[in-house]
Order: sequence, then C-alpha cells, then structure tokens
Amino acid sequence: FIELTKAQAAKAPPDYVRRQTLTSVERFTTDELARFEAEVVRAQEEALAREQALVEALRREIENDARRIQQAAAAVAKLDVLAGLAEVALEARLVRPEVDEGETLEIIGGRHLVVERMQREFTPNDARMDFHHRRFMLLTGPNMGGKSTYMRQVAWCVWLAQMGSFVPAERARIPVMRRIFSRIGAGDELARGRSTFMVEMMETASILHALRPRSLVVIDEIGRGTSTWDGLAIAWAVAERLIQSPDVLTLFATHYHELTELPDAHPEAFNASVTVREWNGSVVFLHRVVEDAADQSYGIAVAQLAGLPREVIRRAREHLFRLEHGSEVEAERKQADSRQQLGLFALAEQRRQEQELSLLREVARRLREADPDRMRPIDALMLLAELRQRLEDDD
Ligand SMILES: Nc1ncnc2c1ncn2[C@@H]1O[C@H](COP(=O)(O)OP(=O)(O)OP(=O)(O)O)[C@@H](O)[C@H]1O
Ligand SMILES: [Mg+2]
Repeated sequence: FIELTKAQAAKAPPDYVRRQTLTSVERFTTDELARFEAEVVRAQEEALAREQALVEALRREIENDARRIQQAAAAVAKLDVLAGLAEVALEARLVRPEVDEGETLEIIGGRHLVVERMQREFTPNDARMDFHHRRFMLLTGPNMGGKSTYMRQVAWCVWLAQMGSFVPAERARIPVMRRIFSRIGAGDELARGRSTFMVEMMETASILHALRPRSLVVIDEIGRGTSTWDGLAIAWAVAERLIQSPDVLTLFATHYHELTELPDAHPEAFNASVTVREWNGSVVFLHRVVEDAADQSYGIAVAQLAGLPREVIRRAREHLFRLEHGSEVEAERKQADSRQQLGLFALAEQRRQEQELSLLREVARRLREADPDRMRPIDALMLLAELRQRLEDDD
C-alpha cells in the first residue's frame, strides 16, 4: 500500500483506491499494486509447490536406492573403523594377535597405549594365564607400582583382539572370550542414593551374577571402602568365588597382603607383584610384573613423594610402627608400668619369689644330675638330707 498523511490524503490521484484509515494516515492501493501483490503471492505458492515436488522426487529416488545407500554407508563406516585401527596399529606398533578357541592367554611384551604415550619410558610386561591351572592372578605391590596399569593393559589387549584389532604387544595369543568385566576405581553416585562402598558392592554383585564361562574379570582393589576386616573378608570371599569359576580368567589387584596365601589352598591361583627397588632411602618403581607376592606396600613413601607435610609423614611412620608391632610394644609398656608402680613391699616380695625360683631350679638341677641306678644308698640318703636342709635354710 501507499501511505499518505491525513493532510496529503485529499490530494491523492484519482486512481488511488482508499483501503484503510488510521488516526493520522490514510492507506491507498492502485490496480498496478494489486496486480503485483497477486503475482508475488502466486510465486510464493508456486515456489513452495516446486520445492515440495523436488523433495518428494529426491525422497523417492533415495527410497528406491535405500538398500544400496545403506550398504554403502555401512561399508564406509566399516572402512573408517578399519582404517582407524590400521593407522593406530602402524603408529603405535601393534601386532596381530592369534585369536583361537583355545584356553591359553599369552601376551608377551604387553603395553598400555595411553600410559605409554604419556610416559618417557614404558616397561612392557608379559601375561600368561589359562583356564585351568593359572586362571586367577593375585596382583600385589606398592602404591604407584603399576598394578592398575598392568591389569588394564591386559584387558585392553583381550578386548581389542575380540573386536578384530591388532594389540599393543610384541606377541599375543588370546582365547575367544564371551564377556569382559571390570571393577575399577572408586566413585559415588550420591544423587542416585549410592555411597562409594555401595557402588563398589553393587558392581561386584553384578559381576558375580553375570559370570559365564569364557569371561575375563578385572578387579582393582575391592573392599577398600570399608573397615579393614570387613574389606579383607569380602575380598577374600569374592576371590574364592572367582577362583572356583570354571573357564574364567581373573586379574585381582589388592593391598590385602593376607590374600597372598590363596595360591597355597587353590592351585588355580598364582601370585604376581610389581617390583620396586629401595635406593638411597627412596623408592624406585620398576613397573615390572614378576610372579611372586609383594613384601611391602611403601604407602608412606608414596605419600611423601606426593608432598604430604613432613610432620604428618613422621607421625604416620610412628603409627605404622605401633600398628605393626602392636602387641610387642604393648607388652613392653605394661612391664615398664608395673615396675614403676611396685612399692617397696611389693619389690621385696618380687625379690623373694625370684630367690625361691632360683632355689627350686638348683634343686631340680641336682636331682637331674643324680643317677639313682649307680648311687650307693648312703649317697642317695645324703643327697636327700642335703637338699632338704637347703630348702629349710631358705624358709
Ligand atoms: N609399565 C609401566 N611403565 C612405565 N610407567 C608405568 C608403568 N606402569 C605404571 N606406570 C606409571 O606408574 C603410575 C602408577 O601406576 P598405577 O596406577 O598402575 O599403580 P598402582 O599399582 O595401581 O597404584 P595404587 O596401588 O596406588 O593403585 C602410572 O600412572 C604410570 O605413570
Ligand atoms: Mg591402582
């Protein structure tokens, strides 16, 4: 429309047709304008119709070829995955594993791809297990020793092999596995009403329920979230259940040293540990996995490395000593206490008892030395009289 002020509206040309009157303006249209308007509206409609027709045609075309397009997409996706795996295999020096229906897992020179990348030097490790005689590895060793890294790298190798990838190792033979379970790390789900320990136990429960032959189980530090004895008891029972599960391979890391006894009772289990060396009073982590139980946990040394205040470390050492030598220290303390509390009278009494004891020992010695078979009766009588005299003197 054409808009004119009220003052100008009166001068509008005769072919202007009034359409609308507002407070201060009048709006007009003309035949020509109306024609344009109609044309624009029609063009819009036609454009829309054309677009719909084109989309519809394209849709039909795609529909007719849907199978082929989906096949192509799947092929490209597969190619993409394989190309990705191939690239990693080349770049990270992976090897083709032997995957078979056998019962042996053998990884020589296995590595953890991520840790390896972050670390200047990575120590490769082997893994040898089988479904019968070596199905449960109890992994102990100091904090920071490399337990978690090792268990994850084994699980990774198995997982990568199952999906048809090369694996980070020098050589690997991996049995076909049906399931891989892991119970790693500590976290809570407060919003879902589950504390750290609850999450840990629920995950453990679901593993034990879902366990089937040809499963790999990786359990990292179970039972840490509760009191020592509860935790140890649970870890022990869970370990026993896993050892008894046929055709299940388990890697079980723990700080409960008591569990290293498990292989004594269960020939299917074996001990392994990550090694460290003490050097100039500090700890050097070698990250090498050997088949032996660990001797110490070096937790305080690691806490010191992490920068805990010196005074806290010193106190921790004292507490550790007291805990480890608890009963001995306690006994000594009691003895010292009792000595201090003895009065003069008690002291005399104690001395008297000591004297009596030594006299009795003396009598016993003399009797033992005497040989009744070879003694003359007179000598025997004299010995008897003498001993009796000693006892009477003492009274
Ligand atoms: N094979 C290895 N070669 C080189 N470095 C390693 C190796 N394994 C582990 N590390 C290094 O040691 C660090 C600690 O390893 P990891 O977390 O596996 O120890 P851990 O034994 O599980 O300790 P914790 O008992 O505290 O859980 C890793 O972050 C990594 O930097
Ligand atoms: Mg760990």
